[in-house]
Amino acid sequence: MTNREIIDRIQSLKKEKNAVILAHYYTRPEVQDIADYLGDSLGLSQEAGKTDADIIVFCGVHFMAETAAIISPDKKVLSPAKSAGCSLAESITGYDLREWKKANPDGIIVSYVNTTAEVKAWTDICCTSANALKVVQSIPQSRKILFVPDKNLGAWIIKKTGRQMELWNGNCCVHERITADIIINKSKEFPEADILIHPESYCSHDDRILNMPQAYMYSTAGMIRHAAASPKKQFIIATEIETIHKLKKDNPEKDFIPVHPQTICGQMKKVTLNNILETLEQEQYVVEVPENIRQKALLPITRMLEIC
Ligand code: 13P
Ligand code: SF4
Repeated sequence: MTNREIIDRIQSLKKEKNAVILAHYYTRPEVQDIADYLGDSLGLSQEAGKTDADIIVFCGVHFMAETAAIISPDKKVLSPAKSAGCSLAESITGYDLREWKKANPDGIIVSYVNTTAEVKAWTDICCTSANALKVVQSIPQSRKILFVPDKNLGAWIIKKTGRQMELWNGNCCVHERITADIIINKSKEFPEADILIHPESYCSHDDRILNMPQAYMYSTAGMIRHAAASPKKQFIIATEIETIHKLKKDNPEKDFIPVHPQTICGQMKKVTLNNILETLEQEQYVVEVPENIRQKALLPITRMLEIC
């Protein structure tokens, strides 16, 4: 089958089965192009709660599809790449978090949305990179905060809010590679460009980056808004490379330069047109979350969605 034939078949199955395709900005360009909704983790969670489709085909890594299944238990959530993991979500288990909580009974647990349902079930409130500052600022000063699992996002929140938090030692294997030297060298090549950086790479930086007036920390959706609103013509993109597909589509007259050609999340690339079609045809790889865990995991997600 040609790509055109696969896409046509996907479109007709979507109609027939009342399905919707949600995709993250890090998925392949051809996957982004057939999505009904393309977004960052926050936008995708919000969309999963709003849609009136019967089936959600979730194009992203597993924790994202699982979050959709927690939010929308009445829908069938299908994950075309059922083995697509995330180094952050894999850095802490429900057991680890329960033990940490036991040792800190007075602590409030804030979990990045890049976590499993089991971890969310032990969490007080979730956040994404788009709303992390607001979420942390909503917690009374008197309360101790335990932040999991991304030490980079956590360190950035501490820097921005001045709020002390204990951090779990997790990281994103893709964003950790974006060091201060890589950013500075790219900026020397393109001195006119704004630099848009995901906070998951924050710890690899130093004050040289923080002091650069043209450097901004954003979630992926924040980068897209910045590029559209800015009068600048060039942008260095310090996150997963495929985000450039959407940036370029929205701003064909502007230049988007990857900070490094190897900033690729292989897990996100596991979603393909072929496995989307297979998933829809067979209604396979249904994301299931046991009901007792789902109910507990829903609470911190709902608290987050009420804040932003
Ligand atoms: P966003 O919340 O910006 O979509 O980021 C999710 C993610 O996995 C980044 O690596
Ligand atoms: Fe996870 Fe990093 Fe891939 Fe994002 S880029 S999904 S945090 S491994």
